[in-house]
Amino acid sequence: VSLAVAKDGGNRSSPLLYGVMFEEMDHSGDGGIHGQLLQNNGFQGSSLGMTSYAPVGDAQISRDTSKPVSTAIKSSLSVSVPEDATSYVGFANTGYNGVPVMNTTYNTSFWMMGDYSGAINIQLLGSHSGIVYADHNLTVQSTAAKFTQFSTTFDSKPSPDGDNEWHLTFDGSKVAGSSLSFGYIQLFPPTYHDRENGLRKDLATVLAEVNPTVLRFPGGNNIEGLQVDSRWKWNTTIGPLIDRPGRESDWFYPNSDALGLDEYLWWCEDMKMTPLLAVWAGKSYGDIISGSDLEPYVDDIMNELEYLLGSSTTQYGKLRAQNGRRDPWKIDYVEIGNEDDLTGGCATYPDRFNQIYKAIHDKYPHITLVASNGDYRCLPSPLPEGVIIDLHLYRQPDDFVALFNQFDNQPRNQSVMVGEYGCRNTSDAKGTYRSYIQGSCSEAVYMMGMERNSDIVQMAAYAPMLEHFGLIAWSPTLYGFDSSPGSMTPSTSYYVQKMFASNKGDTILPVNSSSDFGPLYWVASKTNSTYYVKLANYGADEQNVTVSIPDTNSGRLEMLAGSQLQGNRPHDISIQTVITKVQNDSGNYTVNMAPWAVAALAVS
Ligand code: AHR
Repeated sequence: VSLAVAKDGGNRSSPLLYGVMFEEMDHSGDGGIHGQLLQNNGFQGSSLGMTSYAPVGDAQISRDTSKPVSTAIKSSLSVSVPEDATSYVGFANTGYNGVPVMNTTYNTSFWMMGDYSGAINIQLLGSHSGIVYADHNLTVQSTAAKFTQFSTTFDSKPSPDGDNEWHLTFDGSKVAGSSLSFGYIQLFPPTYHDRENGLRKDLATVLAEVNPTVLRFPGGNNIEGLQVDSRWKWNTTIGPLIDRPGRESDWFYPNSDALGLDEYLWWCEDMKMTPLLAVWAGKSYGDIISGSDLEPYVDDIMNELEYLLGSSTTQYGKLRAQNGRRDPWKIDYVEIGNEDDLTGGCATYPDRFNQIYKAIHDKYPHITLVASNGDYRCLPSPLPEGVIIDLHLYRQPDDFVALFNQFDNQPRNQSVMVGEYGCRNTSDAKGTYRSYIQGSCSEAVYMMGMERNSDIVQMAAYAPMLEHFGLIAWSPTLYGFDSSPGSMTPSTSYYVQKMFASNKGDTILPVNSSSDFGPLYWVASKTNSTYYVKLANYGADEQNVTVSIPDTNSGRLEMLAGSQLQGNRPHDISIQTVITKVQNDSGNYTVNMAPWAVAALAVS
């Protein structure tokens, strides 16, 4: 196939096109990208009981609701010591299927109540091997009058596996026949950009390397709530951690909400992503709130926006400043709800949308509002000018390829976002799905259709983002991990996302081709004098492609290839992008596309 790329003449391309979507699911946040490593650390929610805790030495432990750490953290851990205790006793936390123990410096903290003056010993050690990787003492003076927080840092040696736990012990002889209470325990490795209560550096760095432009958060289903009352509530995810009660989520485990509204926005700033904030719009799984009943919730959205955007002299802006962010955040995009065409939301969404749209637009006309679906039966008619509609697509490979031209003939005045998409081949019925080359190639074809039309397709977000391999509710995801070293595994789709986001110009260019689209697909773009040509071979035969690009002579070729059903498996990265240099004085480049390969040429 010969492709001759024009010098100019195409449409502009949205700078925000390739983003990601994040919601707390699969332990993507708690036990995932949020840095805190101990599970059930505040006994939040109602379903975890004593999960992750065990006694150490001759002690008895129990969850104690009679001694709350704070109004929000309603339980603590009681550690009872027998009368004849002579040695150190305490408790263990086994993390999220183990604690990752690395050659690094950890910060740990805990709240404590009860009369005790002396040493507390903290260890990181193998749960079954008993090998101690870190062993650190701190001296505390605790009283029975109130909970006091203690924190310390210590170095650790690396563990060869993820089968590790955190121990806190104290001198049992000083507490013999009595008990001490502990609460809201935390353990952090170094965090991304050294933020307090920040992201795990390793998992965040891999995401940053994708170069995502947008972060859509905090859901997804997880904003909706299984009932109205368990919806994601912005104001319980801000401020000191012990003021955050957490919630039972939509994805079957309690959320700590330690990764809260401000943390999402620090994350966006640190990775230079544009935030796309979703607000609750009256639909939960159990109920719909609409009409005048929705008004208090609209007020709540306006309070949230004042918290984010108001000066530090406003009621909520002042609270933001107290919580560590004096300057207003930059919020230019707000999505009203999530998938309101589904689960009973359609009939009332037009009115709910209009109510919320009016309140936000009147006060913050600079904000672009996004409708949570693309079904015109579930949208106001007409849609206010400038509103983006959000489409979600989880499809099988051939279905994605069939949608290559989905946006070619759309009205050019209706902006679109593909707020969730990913190939999900559910036909193998195994329950857990992994990305594989054919599926990722089909996403690449679909993304080319979006990119060719990125005058109207403003944003797209691959979803979901991250999974803990041992704690999955939904797969596949962009990448995954567990507690063991080297567990982080980018999917084949991760490499497609990274390749596409890193090789995109600001203007789409026409291409003259010797054949029609299929099985080879392409899109060309440029910024200044750098040209980008993306290619995907959605077929079982190799394709020899000649690409002519005016006024260029060298650059690089990125290539992702593998056999049709091959994908990366946890701990086994068999496929990744290969980069080679290219050079041709007349700007003619030959690219051999293996079956199912995805490639990007960047030359100038
Ligand atoms: O990404 C998984 C789920 O798929 C999201 O929570 C929801 O919005 C969609 O249905």
